[in-house]
Amino acid sequence: MSESPSLSSLEKGKVLFVDDEENILRSLQRLFMDEEVEVFTASSGAKGLEILAREGEVGVIVSDQRMPEMAGVDFLAKSKAISPQSIRILLTGYADVNAAIDAINRGGTFRYLNKPWNDEELVQTVMGAMKMYRLLTENKRLAAVVKKQNAELQKWNTELESIVQEQTMELQKSYDSVRAINSKLRVNFKNTIIAFSGLIELRDPRMRAHSRNVAEVSVNVAKQLGMESEQREMVMVAALLHDIGKIGIPDIMLAREAEQMNFTEREEYLQHSIRGQAAIDRIEELREAGLIIRAHHESYDGNGFPDELKKTDIPLGARIIALADYIDKKMRKASGASGFDFIRKEVELQRGTLFDPKIIPVALEQAEAFYKKIRPKTDHIEIELLPAALEDGMELSRDVFSGTGLLLLTKGTALAKSSIMLLKRYYELDPPNQGVYVCVKE
Ligand SMILES: [Fe+2]
Ligand SMILES: [Fe+2]
Repeated sequence: MSESPSLSSLEKGKVLFVDDEENILRSLQRLFMDEEVEVFTASSGAKGLEILAREGEVGVIVSDQRMPEMAGVDFLAKSKAISPQSIRILLTGYADVNAAIDAINRGGTFRYLNKPWNDEELVQTVMGAMKMYRLLTENKRLAAVVKKQNAELQKWNTELESIVQEQTMELQKSYDSVRAINSKLRVNFKNTIIAFSGLIELRDPRMRAHSRNVAEVSVNVAKQLGMESEQREMVMVAALLHDIGKIGIPDIMLAREAEQMNFTEREEYLQHSIRGQAAIDRIEELREAGLIIRAHHESYDGNGFPDELKKTDIPLGARIIALADYIDKKMRKASGASGFDFIRKEVELQRGTLFDPKIIPVALEQAEAFYKKIRPKTDHIEIELLPAALEDGMELSRDVFSGTGLLLLTKGTALAKSSIMLLKRYYELDPPNQGVYVCVKE
């Protein structure tokens, strides 16, 4: 199998000899007959330039210095304009050293050879120059290829970058819309849970806003204790629904404080934690919240209900809710500036028995901040407005209930467009007999 010939062996390199003596040109032609080159000859600089103009690039140009019309040095300098890549050689007599120096100084001349020359040296020099010419040309060609490829690569890179950017933007858009849908779903979910939690408060007017208060304090405590957001969500759901099981308890019993109940009544009353769990057990996503609801009347010392769980066997969420629940019930009795001190004392009395000692300080701190927040501000006055007159950012100074007593919004809520819309809707569907109370600066 023969190897495919390289480009340089297919194309013979061109050599141009310029000399005013025809016999020298002939002997040069003979000398290079067997070499891998195509020989051109010219008897004057002018003719040499004509050949160059016709042939284009010539690998090697060899010129005699002493010629009548145009000296070799001048011819070589002019040839540079037509054939810039050529390797130039000057043939000079021994007396023409200055011309040789001149030729080299004016640039573009590779070397000079003395006349008369040594055949072997001349052939070697010309063939060496041809090799050099080929290397330089190949080098230049490769550099051009690399440059072109680089430019293409750059273009691809830029295109790729913009494609990636476009796709990133698309992804971001989809992600944003998924996130928007998710957050809408979450809001809807939370509102549904809040609506459920409102059902029990409908039956027991004393418990108005109880579940929401317990939920808000519990979630804040959970956050302080470093619970992950998913767990906090479960705590929120469990807190909002912790008393949902009370729906089945007779009104007469609901009206009584737990402490006033006899043993059987208390047993029946405490069933609400089991009923609450059972009520939401069908919703798989809420099962964990169900476990918390079941355990919200367990005691830290193991004397609670229904499973007599002890210490950390009680789910953390349930230990938190137990405290928030107790505090909110006590808050209804507390009043005045010393109100919270009373709560503090009551809670401390149950340290280690009802409540987890580690949670007590966090729960007290969060609860105090929460109840302070929902207390009306002193430099504000309360005014009553119809929903049409409500504005964004106004703060509710009282809980808002529908005509049939469903809690719509709690005291302290800062109104937004959506909540104003909700109020307008309820004032049409189930109108209360009063306006909405808001706090405004005096
Ligand atoms: Fe309860
Ligand atoms: Fe409760």
